Amino acid sequence: MNKKAAITGVSAYRPEYILTNKEIEQTLDTTDEWIMSRCGVSERRILKDKNKGTAFMAAEAAKSLLDKKGLTPLDIELIIVATVTPEHPYPATANIVADMIGATNAWGFDIQAACSSFLSAVQTASKFIESGTHKKVLVIGSDKMSSIVDYTCRKTSILFGDAAGAVLLEPSIDETGILDAKLYADGSGKKYLYQPAGGSLIPASIESVTNKQHFVQMDGQAVFKVAVIKMADAAEEMMQRNNLLADDIAFLTPHQANKRIIEATANRMGISMDKVMLNIHKYGNTTSATIPLCLVEWEDQLKKGDNIILTTFGAGFTWGAMYVKWSY
Ligand SMILES: CC(C)(COP(=O)(O)OP(=O)(O)OC[C@H]1O[C@@H](n2cnc3c(N)ncnc32)[C@H](O)[C@@H]1OP(=O)(O)O)[C@@H](O)C(=O)NCCC(=O)NCCS
Repeated sequence: MNKKAAITGVSAYRPEYILTNKEIEQTLDTTDEWIMSRCGVSERRILKDKNKGTAFMAAEAAKSLLDKKGLTPLDIELIIVATVTPEHPYPATANIVADMIGATNAWGFDIQAACSSFLSAVQTASKFIESGTHKKVLVIGSDKMSSIVDYTCRKTSILFGDAAGAVLLEPSIDETGILDAKLYADGSGKKYLYQPAGGSLIPASIESVTNKQHFVQMDGQAVFKVAVIKMADAAEEMMQRNNLLADDIAFLTPHQANKRIIEATANRMGISMDKVMLNIHKYGNTTSATIPLCLVEWEDQLKKGDNIILTTFGAGFTWGAMYVKWSY
């Protein structure tokens, strides 16, 4: 039987600049109290350097992961970057990252499934491990959301931040690893959350820039209503498929879009908030980086054999969950 894939290391890059609610209060008609009560974000990191993008953050996360694991870039066979803010439309950010870190033995590509990009990439990577063709795969979630956020819009600018998180996947040597995953997509949700311009339908033009069509467009309430149900549905389904009770679960690792969505998911699963990885107050929604960023910050508390449920929801709509038995 083919080996399962195991997450054998995690690392992250967080830009230094901290954009606080207090700073946002200076320029927009909003308050710290409103933002905290509606979405639970207190501050977010912003990559201020205009000469650095998504690939820089991804490469920093990858380099620190290689250092941590005592690996060289040449050990890596495949790099998958999950992102909605690629360095360029093409080539793939994964290829740029490979060049930046010197991973000349690695092929690579990007995966884009909005905020579900990271779990989609991990699921894809796990199949390369399970098939036996690859033994060391880097999955990096990296997003410079500040490049597509309109900082004059109080409805969206409060939510997002920049960051990158990386995981190493290797064949499992025991019963631990990525044991199950179920991902969903429903493209009819496009109109509620998308970036209208910059693709083939509306290429960049003076008009598209003037009309702010290169920024995130969101109907927050419509997204919230679907997210709060779908993320909880996916988490509950993952428990049922694997005969897991609330007491069996060590941690829930949810995509960090809104604290209230996360609380609703935990509530449906019957688990208390002390088992929920929650850092949205510090980083906001970093899109593809939220889940690996949580794994990094809870790494010290994780024990081999712990049952973890990862859940996601994003534009598309896309959503799903993954069951991981922690490997170290
Ligand atoms: C964005 C979000 C926090 C807004 O909260 P909400 O309770 O739905 O707020 P609404 O959009 O209904 O707006 C309510 C009112 O607050 C106002 N408002 C919006 N943003 C505000 C802000 N930052 N500060 C103060 N008031 C604000 C609105 O203009 C509206 O005023 P009105 O009633 O006079 O028109 C919430 O909808 C949300 O989190 N949605 C999901 C977003 C998400 O998860 N996106 C990523 C998916 S991966």
